[in-house]
Amino acid sequence: MKKKQQHKRKSMAETADRHVLYEKSVQNVAFEYKFVSNTYRKLRGRRPRHVREDFCGTASMCCEWVRRSKENTAIGVDIDPQVLAWGRKHNLSRLKPEARLRVSLLQEDVFRVTTDQPLDVVLAMNFSYQLFMTREKLGGYFRKAHGALADDGILFLDAYGGYDAHREIREKTKYNDFKYIWEQARYNPIDGKMRCHIHFGFPDGSKMKKAFSYEWRLWSLPELRELLDEAGFSKVTVYWEETDPKTGEGSGVYSPATTGDADPGWVCFLVAEK
Ligand SMILES: C[S@@+](CC[C@H](N)C(=O)[O-])C[C@H]1O[C@@H](n2cnc3c(N)ncnc32)[C@H](O)[C@@H]1O
Repeated sequence: MKKKQQHKRKSMAETADRHVLYEKSVQNVAFEYKFVSNTYRKLRGRRPRHVREDFCGTASMCCEWVRRSKENTAIGVDIDPQVLAWGRKHNLSRLKPEARLRVSLLQEDVFRVTTDQPLDVVLAMNFSYQLFMTREKLGGYFRKAHGALADDGILFLDAYGGYDAHREIREKTKYNDFKYIWEQARYNPIDGKMRCHIHFGFPDGSKMKKAFSYEWRLWSLPELRELLDEAGFSKVTVYWEETDPKTGEGSGVYSPATTGDADPGWVCFLVAEK
């Protein structure tokens, strides 16, 4: 008798694409674009046009940037050729050909990259600069970013903290078709270095473990502000999330602040003006 062919169905984790899951769970480029463009306009009286996205990964933000205006140009810089190739295949390919011409991707170390065009904005989002673990390295990167900006240019960074940031914990967030798990696997209070992972879980019970892993230093806001000052930025402002008076939760609106609540977990933006 003919043996029935056994087709082992692949699990959801085996067929999922980690970059798709990352973009859905970690990034919000529409929000980022609005924050950067509106903040720049308030500070400089015009819209920013030329951006460099450092640590650009899949270049999702570069694509959002050029989609928003025909005058916008974007340079994405990432050291990893695979992530850039993914970005070209899945993100740049979706742009209209005219918009695609306004994006350039550079496979480079942000510490070494040189870009000729003076930039309105340099972006370093999702805490990527934390990969630089010494004052010398991070300060050096901030000086490079300062040098790449036009005279009225602005560097935008995000930062996170709060007392939960120092704990070895896992946090789960549910999405429609998967679960996002952020793990702070190791934190060393002596040198501030930590190891973090992103895992994804699926309705069929399968898991994509350590889809992304990071070794970085949890920098504090005073340290970041001091390093930005030392790198030559004329004004460094923290944009802190406002509280919705009805819910007592964050409202999603970030505004300049000099005091903040000692929340267990917060995310804010640093706006460093040249
Ligand atoms: C946390 S991801 C950030 C992706 C994206 N910018 C975002 O907002 O989600 C960090 C990225 O930085 C890249 N990277 C790490 N070290 C780098 C370096 N020295 N120069 C350029 N890119 C680097 C990695 O390849 C990775 O794609």
